[in-house]
Amino acid sequence: MAVRELLKMGDPRLLRVAQPVREFDTDALHLLISDLLDTMRAAHGAGLAAPQVGVDLQLVVFGSDQINPRYPQRPLIPATVLINPVITPLGEAQENDWEGCLSVPGLRGLVPRWNVVRYTGFDQYGDAIDRSVQGFHARVVQHECDHLIGRLYPTRMRDFTQFGYTEVLFPDVAATESD
Ligand code: NI
Repeated sequence: MAVRELLKMGDPRLLRVAQPVREFDTDALHLLISDLLDTMRAAHGAGLAAPQVGVDLQLVVFGSDQINPRYPQRPLIPATVLINPVITPLGEAQENDWEGCLSVPGLRGLVPRWNVVRYTGFDQYGDAIDRSVQGFHARVVQHECDHLIGRLYPTRMRDFTQFGYTEVLFPDVAATESD
């Protein structure tokens, strides 16, 4: 178990289309997931994708069994390991909300996302995951899975007047946050 170094925007490894995981329930996979969870929790992230630690695989972790201090007003999302995911929007509705990213430290932006999505994939044992979710849960999944196709949230933004430093945009919140 270890906290790994987080890559930051500008690193070309964040721009790759990640490779599918082909072997499940291996020691190497379990170690990677353990490190991703340690790294996510140490940074108080809502989620983390393998490419953010330089690993070129379609694997994300997100959620928590406790309220996240970076997002104290947000509902709980169950702790999830999601491998080789496929996201399908359900309906046409999109919603704007603020996002941050551990690879874009110190900044927040207003990002449109699908309100309701279905996501499928596998857990670390190769068991199928199939969920339909909405709101913050749907947003986090879309954000994390974007990392697997080389997309960081600023590339999803439509209005760059709604992009700035967390401490300026949200002075009350920033005092309790690490980025
Ligand atoms: Ni991110």
